[in-house]
Amino acid sequence: MAYQVEYATEQDASELGIINNDSFRERGMFPAVFPGSSDASIRAYKAKNVPKHLADPKTHVLKVTDPASGAIVGYGRWHIPTELGITPHVPELSEQGQVYAKDPVVFAPQPMNMRAWTAFKAMLEEGRKRHATERDMMLDLLATLPSYQGRGVGSAILRWGCEKADALQVRIYLEATPEGCPLYVKHGWKVVENVDFDMSQFGAHGVDDFYLMIRDPKPIS
Ligand SMILES: CC(C)(COP(=O)(O)OP(=O)(O)OC[C@H]1O[C@@H](n2cnc3c(N)ncnc32)[C@H](O)[C@@H]1OP(=O)(O)O)[C@@H](O)C(=O)NCCC(=O)NCCS
Repeated sequence: MAYQVEYATEQDASELGIINNDSFRERGMFPAVFPGSSDASIRAYKAKNVPKHLADPKTHVLKVTDPASGAIVGYGRWHIPTELGITPHVPELSEQGQVYAKDPVVFAPQPMNMRAWTAFKAMLEEGRKRHATERDMMLDLLATLPSYQGRGVGSAILRWGCEKADALQVRIYLEATPEGCPLYVKHGWKVVENVDFDMSQFGAHGVDDFYLMIRDPKPIS
């Protein structure tokens, strides 16, 4: 099926929160950061994080909808440096959306393991410093509802960004989960580093693997 990729809106936040929780919940990170929290509370919190991304001029939040049901089945967040000239897409937020955008962490389910969360963010930030430049695009998030995986939803969002990167002749950096890695290789990314994030250092359990990957633009023929 040829899925259509569109910009997400504030009204989509609840559906994006569900996709975020349901696609990543098998990884160790969520139970480590939100010990004992229900799916419902993590979904609601992830929904409250959406306005912050919508309000960021370098972030392009995209969704894919199933044309049969009208439900959102996947989404992605691309970072495109504003100086590359792609018009930012920043929708006007409701008053409540503006409150969420200012500091979503205030609304996090409790207890939250802030040490694990801060260390996770620092791990991503340090990888970005080691490998990405200010001119690179970045895939900040890609997630497909589990029941829709393997049907081309993720690929449709990847094509949206890869076409832009090829036209601009810029690289794309990302941090892949082991599940995402083969798909990225198919679309032209190469692994530049493997990082094990050991949550036992932060009073939690498990190790999450990440592959730091870069895609060079296709040469213009
Ligand atoms: C990784 C992830 C985003 C991929 O999304 P997806 O929508 O399943 O991706 P696609 O369907 O485009 O591609 C997945 C596979 O299905 C295949 N596929 C694509 N279109 C297809 C179709 N119409 N019919 C059957 N298979 C298809 C692709 O070739 C690919 O095959 P591969 O596994 O051999 O590489 C998704 O699995 C996910 O959300 N995982 C959990 C969260 C996560 O790890 N996110 C990545 C963070 S970096």
